[in-house]
Amino acid sequence: LDNGLALKPTMGWLHWERFMCNINCDRDPENCISEQLYMQMADVMVKEGWKDAGYEYVCIDDCWPSYQRDAQGRLQADPQRFPGGIKKLADYVHSKGLKLGIYGDVGKKTCAGYPGSQGYYETDAKTFADWGVDLLKFDGCYMNWTMLGEGYINMSRALNKTGKSILYSCEWPLYEWAYHKPNYTAIRETCNHWRNFDDVFDSWSSIKSILDWTSSHQDIILPVAGPGGWNDPDMLVIGNYGLSHDQQESQMAFWAIMAAPLLMSNDLRNICPRSKKLLQNKLIIDISQDPLGKQGSCTGKFDSFEVWERPLSNNRLAVAVLNRQEMGGPRGLVAIAIPGWKICNPQCNVTQILPEYKEMGVQPLLSKLVLSVNPSGTALLTITPIGKRVDMHKSHWQ
Ligand code: DGJ
Repeated sequence: LDNGLALKPTMGWLHWERFMCNINCDRDPENCISEQLYMQMADVMVKEGWKDAGYEYVCIDDCWPSYQRDAQGRLQADPQRFPGGIKKLADYVHSKGLKLGIYGDVGKKTCAGYPGSQGYYETDAKTFADWGVDLLKFDGCYMNWTMLGEGYINMSRALNKTGKSILYSCEWPLYEWAYHKPNYTAIRETCNHWRNFDDVFDSWSSIKSILDWTSSHQDIILPVAGPGGWNDPDMLVIGNYGLSHDQQESQMAFWAIMAAPLLMSNDLRNICPRSKKLLQNKLIIDISQDPLGKQGSCTGKFDSFEVWERPLSNNRLAVAVLNRQEMGGPRGLVAIAIPGWKICNPQCNVTQILPEYKEMGVQPLLSKLVLSVNPSGTALLTITPIGKRVDMHKSHWQ
């Protein structure tokens, strides 16, 4: 969407995967969906280096509103859980130099059964704008699929009409894929990012299913990604319970390669230092936010290895090598097997970012470098060509 926003993949925090629809503030006051949760996340984001690392949006997901609209037909936050209301929460988040995201649904109800926006697009867009909201995640439950496109487009227009800059995060293609191939040109014109596939869970099988869906649809979804509009493979679940450290590294590396929004869903008030360090890794974030704005893709599979590559600015290349064998120990892949290695003609400078930072120095085209990758782990590299440029369309094997 050409609204001047999301020129780089959005970075922030979103409550859903970690906090779900926990509305029981009597029993679980620390973790229920309430204004306190977002205020505390905003506080931590400033104090613990998240904001400095680039994480900017604090986002509310489902289960925030009251079941009833007010007398003027406006949405209102649940009064017990959000006693100050959303405007005050937005002011608080802004006072920390951060931005606030909110959630709605294109249909009659949200997925959790709260009021949806169908029939109220203009009213709701105006309400969000009046509150000072900076991002809207718009879900697609309780909507006849033939009207999804029209609904998402009408909300996009309604947001634009408010005159405020509101980043628009859609789930349009996800809900349309069940019936037919979505029109990605229209989606890109309408939204700043869009979910294509199932919700992420806190498990390695969920991360693998997202990678598999993405690589098997890359011909369709890659061409539309770029500044202003991104494919959204859903939240980062790093720092929770389900992924080993190698798997957390894999998620971080691949979300950067995919030019995905980096929306963490975890408890920043209580996160292990190693996960924190990974999420704040500047070199990985630099790949995610690279100004060329091109999404990477799967470029090769060699026995248990999967190689993905993302072109970066200044002719550089980011390469992620995933070891999908979930048995045994580390396995080696010769670097010259990486399809993009041909840019090392005559030489290139190689930096390994994951599993640990290592300068691998200047490497020739016929390098003997071997990458060691743990089971379900990833080696993440950047490759910078040195010397004469090569024709990118010709491989050195030809
Ligand atoms: C479905 C979405 O895909 C999730 O990300 C989350 O927003 C839930 N709905 C909320 O009900």
